[in-house]
Amino acid sequence: MLRAAPRRHRPYAPALALLLCAGSCAGSGIGIPEATDLAGPLVVDGGRGDGKSFAASFQSFQDTIFTPICTHCHAGASAPKAFQLDAANSYAMLVNVPSVELPSMKRVAPGDPDHSYIVVKLAGINPPMVGAQMPYNGPPYLAPAQIDAIRTWIKAGAKR
Ligand code: HEC
Repeated sequence: MLRAAPRRHRPYAPALALLLCAGSCAGSGIGIPEATDLAGPLVVDGGRGDGKSFAASFQSFQDTIFTPICTHCHAGASAPKAFQLDAANSYAMLVNVPSVELPSMKRVAPGDPDHSYIVVKLAGINPPMVGAQMPYNGPPYLAPAQIDAIRTWIKAGAKR
């Protein structure tokens, strides 16, 4: 019953992950699973099909990444590169907006994670990265599974 096809979107996966985590994630420190296929296909679980996944939704990134991590710097009038990631501004400053550092790339190009500058900056892909990997004060940087979830969201059209 729990052996669902691994390449399908499963809306209940986050809840399942929480349940599984209650029993099995205690020893992993931060409870973030590893993903091995960074450039993988459209999945929410890194392709492992083990139920440990991040919800690949904009709201989940806001709540678990942008607000707690990025807004230490990317907020307010003095945000670096005028790039604000607080909940009121992040979507409008991400999707279809050219990067300041690399204007030939959008920060998020819907459908095209390979040409979305936020992925370049979070994964530290150099070239074409300008400046430092994000978050700027890392390491720690985001876990591969988190970056994979952002790629999945972009690939699916970067919906709000
Ligand atoms: C400690 C401060 C700090 C934190 C935290 C931080 N950043 Fe940055 N960010 C910067 C600075 C400074 C720059 C410009 C210099 C550089 O890129 O090296 C920048 C630049 C960027 C750019 C390039 C913007 C453009 O238009 O070219 C992106 C994308 C970015 N950050 C994403 C993020 C994300 C996503 C997070 C959270 C995971 C994050 N940053 C966390 C300081 C920070």
